[in-house]
This record gives sequence, structure tokens and C-alpha cells, in this order.
Amino acid sequence: MTALVLDGAAIAREVLSELKPRVAVLERKRIRPGLATVLVGNNVASLAYVRNKVRACAEVGVHAEVHELDIDCGEAAIMAEVAALNSNRDIHGIIVQLPLPPGVDAQRVLQSVALEKDVDGFNWCNLGAIVDGHPRLVPCTPLGVITMLERTSVPLEGTHAVVIGRSSIVGKPMALLMISRGATVTVCNSKTPDLGSHTRSADILIAAAGRAKLVTADMVKAGAVVIDVGINRLPDGKLTGDVDYEAVRLKAGAISPVPGGVGRMTVAMLVANTVLAAERAAGVSP
Ligand code: GUN
Repeated sequence: MTALVLDGAAIAREVLSELKPRVAVLERKRIRPGLATVLVGNNVASLAYVRNKVRACAEVGVHAEVHELDIDCGEAAIMAEVAALNSNRDIHGIIVQLPLPPGVDAQRVLQSVALEKDVDGFNWCNLGAIVDGHPRLVPCTPLGVITMLERTSVPLEGTHAVVIGRSSIVGKPMALLMISRGATVTVCNSKTPDLGSHTRSADILIAAAGRAKLVTADMVKAGAVVIDVGINRLPDGKLTGDVDYEAVRLKAGAISPVPGGVGRMTVAMLVANTVLAAERAAGVSP
């Protein structure tokens, strides 16, 4: 068996094109959704991510601006930039691109983003709302995974989902979103003893540990849906996920590739969250 490839690029295009009429409704009210990115320093990966985000915004008519700060500008300058954006009425979404330089308290900066503009969904209140099953703004990667599964008509209720990864911005919210959709969820991490004994019983396996090729074919149940959230750079410069794609695709029922999978969905969901934040600010229902 060869797995169905979950084409994140195609689903992301679909999501973006569905945003266009919503942007048009706002335009009629003379509102243009606006996303501001605070970018500190010139981390090569961050520059590439930010370029992709700006391009996706342009595709649907969302205004995007990048506020570049020097690597050694200091925490106070970053906080001041965020504070100015919090009170800027033309900006509906704010992201502070991670990583921030050493010496900057990233949590303090992230928690200073206004709740209703927190389109990364990193604010503790937005994360907490997921726990209670009443999400407001959901982190883009787990939201992208859920969207990818739902748009491929993968049933979630009654399934066993295994999430590898326990980060606050991917693993934990991912697990909570799956729980609220009726899945039975096991949360593992890269240090879980005998990881394969858990993953082999997964109907849906979501790998978000940040370890290249952590998931091998022997760890996957035949026919399982395998979602690869990992983006790891190999010594030769190539990108690879957390899943041994070539081997696992021969055993899984469906699999998301890297690149062209979850990464594209993450960017699309950021634009979707920005449009949603603008709609809420304008009192327009989506
Ligand atoms: N750096 C890598 N991924 C992300 C993300 O999703 N959001 C932010 N703010 N920074 C990142």
C-alpha cells in the first residue's frame, strides 16, 4: 500500500481562497485586515518564514508589515514595539517571530501581545480557552493540522490519536483539540520509553518532537494517518520532518510530506486568524 499524500499546499490554497470573500466584506466597511510581525535580528529561518507569511497575506488582500529590530535592541524596545501595535487600530494581528535573542524574556514579550490580536494564539488566556473547549485564537500549527484532517474527511471521533511532542504551542494544544473532537489521545515525547509501543496503536499519529526521522515504519500501524509537524534541517541543508517519509508512506494510509504539508497550513491559518481578528474587531460574523 502507498499512502494518500495529504497535500498541505493545495489545502492551504483552498483555505486562503475562501478568505477572499470575507476580506471583501470587510473592505466594503473600509477595513483592511492588518498583520504586524515583529522580527528581531536576522535569523535565516525566521526571515524565510516571515517572507512566506507576508506573501500569503498579499494573496488574499491582508495588509502585512514587518517591524525589524536590531538583534541587540533589548527587551524594552521589543515590548515598546508590541505596545505601539497593541494600540494601532489598523493592525488586527500581531506576531513576535521566534526565536528571540538570548537575554530577552520571550514569555514576557509574548504575554504582552493584546489578547484579541494574538493571532499566534500563544497568550496564556487563548491557550486556556482551548482547555475549556471554547477556543478564541488557536495556535496556527495545531489549527492547521485539524483543518488538514477535517478537509480530508479523516474521522477523529472514536479514534486513538498519538501526539509526539509536548510544547505549549504545538503538542499540548494539538492534544486538546483532538480531545474536544472525541479522539482518545496519548501524548508522548521524544524521551518516552518504548515510544513505538504507543505509536503502533495510533489511528492518527502526529509527530511534533523536532527530531529528524524519529518515526520509523516499524512504529506505525498499517493504514494509520501520519501527520508530520517537524521541520528539521539536515547537515546537507535539506529539510526533513520527524517522520521517515519514504519508508512510512509505504505503510501508512495517509501521510503529510515535508515540505508541502503542515508548514503551508500553518501559514494559511495565520492569515485566517488575522481575518478572524479583524472581523471580531469590526463586529462582523465570519
Ligand atoms: N518561529 C517558528 N515558528 C513560529 C511561529 O509559528 N510563530 C512565531 N511567532 N514564531 C515562530
